Amino acid sequence: MSGAEGEANTTAQVAELSGAQRAMQEAEKKKEMEALIRKRGGKKQVNPEDPHAFWDTMPVPKLSAPDLEADPDGDVGPMEEKTLDQVRQEPYDLPSVDFEWCSMDVTDDAQLAEIYTLLFENYVEDDDNMFRFDYSTNFLRWALMPPGYLPEWHVGVRMTTKKKKSKLVGFITGVPANVQTGESIMPMCEINFLCCWKKLRGKRLAPLLIKEVTRRVNLTGIWQACYTAGVVLPKPITVCRYYHRSLNPKKLIDVDFSRLAPRMTMKMTKKLYEVDKQTRLPGIRPMTEEDVPSACELLNKYLSKFQLHPVFDHDEFRHWLFPREGVIQSFVICNAEGVVTDFLSFYALPSTIMNHPNYTSLNAAYSYYNVATTVEWDALMMDGLILAKQRDFDVFNALDLMDNKEFIEKLKFKPGDGNLQYYLFNWRTKEITPQETALVLL
Ligand SMILES: CC(C)(COP(=O)(O)OP(=O)(O)OC[C@H]1O[C@@H](n2cnc3c(N)ncnc32)[C@H](O)[C@@H]1OP(=O)(O)O)[C@@H](O)C(=O)NCCC(=O)NCCS
Repeated sequence: MSGAEGEANTTAQVAELSGAQRAMQEAEKKKEMEALIRKRGGKKQVNPEDPHAFWDTMPVPKLSAPDLEADPDGDVGPMEEKTLDQVRQEPYDLPSVDFEWCSMDVTDDAQLAEIYTLLFENYVEDDDNMFRFDYSTNFLRWALMPPGYLPEWHVGVRMTTKKKKSKLVGFITGVPANVQTGESIMPMCEINFLCCWKKLRGKRLAPLLIKEVTRRVNLTGIWQACYTAGVVLPKPITVCRYYHRSLNPKKLIDVDFSRLAPRMTMKMTKKLYEVDKQTRLPGIRPMTEEDVPSACELLNKYLSKFQLHPVFDHDEFRHWLFPREGVIQSFVICNAEGVVTDFLSFYALPSTIMNHPNYTSLNAAYSYYNVATTVEWDALMMDGLILAKQRDFDVFNALDLMDNKEFIEKLKFKPGDGNLQYYLFNWRTKEITPQETALVLL
């Protein structure tokens, strides 16, 4: 055997061995992800091999697909490449002549009221149908009108029958955002507010809404989107979990949002969750216009250490993070030079409490983007709890993403039963952990 042959042989053996090892690793990883997906499906068991008549036709990885890290042939990048002239020019056909597509103009109060009502009556509920999100009209204006938004990306379906005049029965929205995933910063569309009138459920209107918004987004030369959902679809890039910090435990227990812990009385529970009346951190105050440049820089720098995050310019930062009464609150701490060193923000998203004799609304604050550089995470977020309590929120919610694990346990947040899966459309990349994730969608 010549040296060269020997070497080739050894290389082949190594390749074979590493191939076998890789196959084993892949099988192992696939098993883990399948277990995770099953578990993360909540009460409903999710089988990764189940067909998805719609999603199986979309440029997204299958639930049973191996993670990129375990797939030697897998590349990061688009799953489908199209050019503008390949984008369908006409809207998709709706099931009957009673339906028509529209673009919803959120600057028009009457149209905004229609959106509000559709969502108020039909949007996301918890598994036990006790609570339903109640996005305020001011919140919707904020969520749907960032810099560069396009009314055509706010897609509605109207139904008109002989008996009834036009009614909004389906909705989905996209807003533009620059999002970094791994090494790539891309203009993307953030999809939200997919909703279908309850009487039209199960009739495959959702796939039409998703295809139509995709078409309209593609027409502007954008090919990637990000979105989150409580349901497991092909295929999450990460799965986050909600944590809840009681601020008004009596009400939360009364409405069955939470339960009295074993061996705890109501009095003990109230004491446990009590927070100071005034914030503790010296100098913490609401963000002002002057803070925008340095707060934006601080946040972008912080976000850049994560695998999935938005990149804000000053206008976008101002839009998303500037305080708006009853919608979004943000606070800063500055150093002696007036440079923002620490940042805290939360948004207000109440839920309707359905069928309760005494209460109709649950006031929830949601942790948004936070940065701690000169103070401890728990000290910063404790002030967040105090500021939320001052504004009469019943509960402060946070996902286990970014550095939130640094304060979640210390500040007595408790895990909820809701998970939030994160998805990328038409972008294959490796799966990431919640702690590598820094994108908060409303
Ligand atoms: C989400 C909603 C629009 C789906 O409508 P539907 O009538 O239940 O479902 P349809 O018959 O129209 O379509 C079913 C398809 O939509 C997919 N789908 C369901 N919910 C989805 C979601 N949240 N995001 C994306 N696709 C979804 C299903 O997986 C299925 O596709 P598949 O066969 O490939 O698996 C509707 O249930 C709804 O309005 N729910 C309340 C609001 C809500 O939960 N919105 C989603 C927030 S993320």
